Amino acid sequence: MGNLKNDLLLRTALGEKTERTPVWLMRQAGRVLPQYRKVREKLKDFKELVKTPEAACEVTIQPVDILGVDAAIIFSDILVVPEAMGLPYKMIESKGPWFENTIQDIKDIEKLKIANPYEELNYVLEAIKLTKLELNNRVPLIGFAGAPWTIFSYMVEGQGSKNFSKAKKMLYTQPDWSHALLKKITATTLAYLKAQINAGANIVQLFDSWAGDLSPDMYKEFALPYINEICNGIDEAPVIVFSRGAYFARTELAKLKCNVIGLDWTMNIKETRSIIGNNKTLQGNMDPCLLYADYDVIKKETIKMLNLFGPSKHIANLGHGIQPDTDADKVKCFIETVKAHQFELQYA
Ligand code: CP3
Repeated sequence: MGNLKNDLLLRTALGEKTERTPVWLMRQAGRVLPQYRKVREKLKDFKELVKTPEAACEVTIQPVDILGVDAAIIFSDILVVPEAMGLPYKMIESKGPWFENTIQDIKDIEKLKIANPYEELNYVLEAIKLTKLELNNRVPLIGFAGAPWTIFSYMVEGQGSKNFSKAKKMLYTQPDWSHALLKKITATTLAYLKAQINAGANIVQLFDSWAGDLSPDMYKEFALPYINEICNGIDEAPVIVFSRGAYFARTELAKLKCNVIGLDWTMNIKETRSIIGNNKTLQGNMDPCLLYADYDVIKKETIKMLNLFGPSKHIANLGHGIQPDTDADKVKCFIETVKAHQFELQYA
């Protein structure tokens, strides 16, 4: 796969048999590592880290050096997209994201622009180029974006939410406005992911973190068509779709033009494989809170997970982002258990 020294993730994403299961973790670049916290302390805030390519590159590569993962994911955030479209955010310490202006009516939607990634998001592309140079082909680099519904929910709510009632109110009361907004987000996201691939990302992941807050019908109307449009528009690299909580849509997810489907830990592995069929690679799906457990429990559960997925078409990961207060040695235990695992002959 090009000149990569370790291309396990890419070959597995494409469905090829590999020597072992590749492993990386959602949110691997971050507070779990004391080395990340050190870089972060030197800068004014989270956004400065995201917007400074040298610093973003450094923290992107830390998990490769320190944890031994099989891929790097570019250090950024899904919220760079609303900002590029005209809604700047602040990351409030120990609280989370906050938008001063939110989307309330059609006029707000009309004012948003479809961003040109080479202008408004060029700092991410610069970080990707630099990271590719610094990685020196050791492992693949993952690019990413939020899926349209998840980005929509931040634009309307202005912050995180327990039940996304404001965002869902717009879906139910103003479906036409909602589609207009989702279309603009989709156009920006597709151009942005293509630009990330062009800058050097080897594979891209769509994060639909709040998919599970929609009913199956609402997911089919307001989330899936836009994910589908993005998948159909990307031919240049493999695509991973992670729709957290969308167990009800697995049959439809199987039909997307993507290579990998991400599972959260509530999804039964064997059942999901039988629903999705054999044409897709699956990614996941350990409960991030398992990493609070003792080492022997982590090992036992990780091996159980690996055996349920089997020796091919599986990328080991958590079922959602890692908890920031996880002990880095426990994270290493998870990674090393995956790397050392030998499948029984019956699975080979
Ligand atoms: O995965 C990685 O290592 C790459 C970096 C990455 C970040 N955010 C860095 C980050 C990625 C892939 C994301 C995606 C993201 N951001 C998602 C989708 C994934 C998911 O977990 O569901 C979402 C919903 C966001 C929005 C967001 N960013 C929230 C809600 C928060 C605050 C909560 C928190 O975790 O602190 C962030 C901040 C954020 N993004 C941090 C990091 C490392 C913590 C900020 C800090 O260092 O102070």
